[in-house]
Amino acid sequence: MKINGNYLNLQESYLFLTVAQKVEAFRRANPGKPVYRLGIGDVTLPLAPAVVAALKEASDEMGRAETFKGYGDYEGYGFLREAVCGYYAKKGVDLKPGEVFISDGAKSDLGNILDIFSNDNTVLIPDPVYPVYVDTNIMAGRRVMFMEGSEGNGFLPMPDNSVPADIIYLCSPNNPTGGVYDKEQLKAWVDYANGRGAVILFDGAYESFVRSEGLPTSIYEVDGARTCAIEFCSLSKTAGFTGTRCGYTVIPEGLERGGQPLNKLWLRRQSTKFNGVPYIIQRGAQAVFTETGMGQVRRNVDYYLANAKVIADALTEKGVWFTGGLNSPYIWLKCPGGMSSWQFFDYLLENANVVGTPGAGFGAAGEGFFRLTAFGGRENIEMAMRRFAGVI
Ligand code: MLT
Repeated sequence: MKINGNYLNLQESYLFLTVAQKVEAFRRANPGKPVYRLGIGDVTLPLAPAVVAALKEASDEMGRAETFKGYGDYEGYGFLREAVCGYYAKKGVDLKPGEVFISDGAKSDLGNILDIFSNDNTVLIPDPVYPVYVDTNIMAGRRVMFMEGSEGNGFLPMPDNSVPADIIYLCSPNNPTGGVYDKEQLKAWVDYANGRGAVILFDGAYESFVRSEGLPTSIYEVDGARTCAIEFCSLSKTAGFTGTRCGYTVIPEGLERGGQPLNKLWLRRQSTKFNGVPYIIQRGAQAVFTETGMGQVRRNVDYYLANAKVIADALTEKGVWFTGGLNSPYIWLKCPGGMSSWQFFDYLLENANVVGTPGAGFGAAGEGFFRLTAFGGRENIEMAMRRFAGVI
């Protein structure tokens, strides 16, 4: 018997697990000291009332013989797929329910989608970025190339025609830097992918944080994207579903590679390996897309964006270079005093009891940078930034 040796090429531990373990060690060594957590991007506001009402009603349905449900559709219930299409229609994007697959979150599908692509493909991944893209490809033993984000390109790398990529990951708004591609930039990526016969895996998990006029919240707002892009979205950050688990993946019908519709391959994969998201959760997710639900979740996102401003103002006052926080819940800052990302992590934890995420954990180009998240409670963030300012 042999294990998958590719796992030995991974870093010892997943970034957020390493951070959690370090914080736990600090807490054990410093019992009673408060710790201000601006590390993992986990939401803190409760589910919207419209969602809670729908979850309760669906639970009651499951308790009555006449409305009980067993296995659902592999692709998700029609009511939720239609609700997602309605949401896209408001962005001016025309989708059919058959192009929408309900999932338990973007993270799972971003990893699982690789099942339908050969291991012979070359993958192009921005650096820094959400570590799941790199790790899942290392697990499969694929060849990975990086495209560097920097202060110079606003952490939004652009295509280079001399680079022979087959699978391209884009994350916009970007985790961790908060950078958002505009339509012209996305168009360049779409043209590159269509020109090469490549596929873009577009992670739009933070699309609901985009507030600046004219910035796209879906790659399908760009002409040509339907023939080269798969989009992954999630209700985790949009509607506080990090613990409730629901997302969706869009694979347009016209998207084919090797003469095969990718939509059909994905359905084949999902119906073999996935039994769908619970009915109760899908009803809760449907409520997000109602007028009332949309209003409620938007207010929550507004709250997090106001938190981001608190962080940004504190950094501006201290003269710390940063980006993000405008159309994103993440603030990406340069570690003061030339410290490395992990040095600054330790320094901040020890001296201010504030937890952030080391930029180096998002890729080599993140070294010397640090990410703070705006998902906490306001008072916690204000206190954390006062303490941060006190040690800088
Ligand atoms: C993050 O902090 O980057 C996210 O919470 C990770 C995730 O969404 O899985």
